[in-house]
Amino acid sequence: MKAMILGADGYIGWPLSMKMANAYGEVVVVDNYATRRLVADVGGISAMPIGADLKERAQRFEKHYPGKKMHVIEGDLKHPAFVEALIRKYKPETIIHLAQQRSAPYSQISTTHALYTQVNNVSSNLNLLFAMHKYAPKAHLLKMGSMGEYGTPNIAIEEGFMDIEYKGRKDKITVPRMGGSWYHQSKIFDSYNVAFANRVWGLRATDVMQGVVYGNRTAEMIDEGLLTRLDIDSIWGTVINKYCAQLIALKKLLIYGKGLMTRGFLSLEDSISALFLLTENPPAEGEYRIVNQLDRTYNTYELAEKVKKIGEELGFESTFETVENPRVEKQEHYYEVVHEKLPSVGFKPKHSVDGQIREIIKDLDRYRSVWIRKKSLLMPNVYWNRSENSEASKKEAWLYRYITKGFTGKPPELGAEGSPG
Ligand SMILES: NC(=O)c1ccc[n+]([C@@H]2O[C@H](COP(=O)([O-])OP(=O)(O)OC[C@H]3O[C@@H](n4cnc5c(N)ncnc54)[C@H](O)[C@@H]3O)[C@@H](O)[C@H]2O)c1
Repeated sequence: MKAMILGADGYIGWPLSMKMANAYGEVVVVDNYATRRLVADVGGISAMPIGADLKERAQRFEKHYPGKKMHVIEGDLKHPAFVEALIRKYKPETIIHLAQQRSAPYSQISTTHALYTQVNNVSSNLNLLFAMHKYAPKAHLLKMGSMGEYGTPNIAIEEGFMDIEYKGRKDKITVPRMGGSWYHQSKIFDSYNVAFANRVWGLRATDVMQGVVYGNRTAEMIDEGLLTRLDIDSIWGTVINKYCAQLIALKKLLIYGKGLMTRGFLSLEDSISALFLLTENPPAEGEYRIVNQLDRTYNTYELAEKVKKIGEELGFESTFETVENPRVEKQEHYYEVVHEKLPSVGFKPKHSVDGQIREIIKDLDRYRSVWIRKKSLLMPNVYWNRSENSEASKKEAWLYRYITKGFTGKPPELGAEGSPG
């Protein structure tokens, strides 16, 4: 099997799965619907309809793209026996690992939420590394990290590695990490674990330090049934997507603090193209490659100005409202990111942020009946400096059971595609 996509029911995973199935004819797609459940846990919902489950989405895809096949496997990557069975059966050449708890605010709600995030992310990744070592040692792992692993240092962020000279001696070291949430800390653990698997087993891997993704459409979404999830609440949404929802529902854009926090951004479709290109141009056997994946940087105030202006053109008036920054982060800082590896394999971003903002606003307006009743969730309610944010989620006992469930009992079946035995 050429490609396996882990986390295929997600925001990035679904459009990437469609692109890969079209390119390679067939793909294996895996998910346990954790994001659907955890978004529901805080009262949220995808602002665009995404159907009942991955099987239904795959059937619709196959109907619209005759001759292309998605092998759907439902299961939890926290379960080592399940991951082993998966890799042993399909022996993929490329494994794209997106299957993680990816909300920084969610990880900050309470001890249980931080625990869930780190247990889910670190254990699933470890299971995958061991299974690859055993059953697909030559495969290419494309692991989604985050630009947030680096933090905001007062020097340029090199692409993974940097030369240093210290007390008269020289070396090449990995760029230091300083995560901004328990979620980002889990990504840092993962990066070090992937690098270790490379050193001891020679595992071939690309660790993608991905910037913030925005947008909601890709070329493959030729029918409403093929849309991807779009989160707009304060816990699960990313900043541009959230501003667009605030514009429509609140008629005001919520600026965190001074709004001068700067990050790297990339549109959804450009992100998909970049991941596809990295699959087509893998690292050498035994190589561990780090790629900084972004188009360009913006501060959050600049982005709000864009959303306000484009909103006006589309008939949506809004004002700015400054709110306490719920995050603990530098409000003003230097930010420069080196990103040369993607251009070196032919990557050219195609989508302007303005064009994407226009599309998001139009779609959020089209699907307002799906999400507008949830508009109270647009206000931030998880604060980094509080020890508990209980109003955000009252279901900790449930979450605790959910953490442990993945490890215990019989491994999930590989379903119609075969059994793990
Ligand atoms: N969206 C962004 O802006 C962004 C930015 C930087 C990095 N990333 C990274 O990219 C990846 C994908 O992000 P996304 O926005 O598509 O997130 P998402 O939450 O929409 O998708 C992740 C998918 O993984 C699944 N999943 C989680 N844990 C699982 C498990 N134990 N077993 C099986 N499936 C599991 C979820 O159900 C979900 O469908 C994540 O690793 C995220 O950290 C995303």
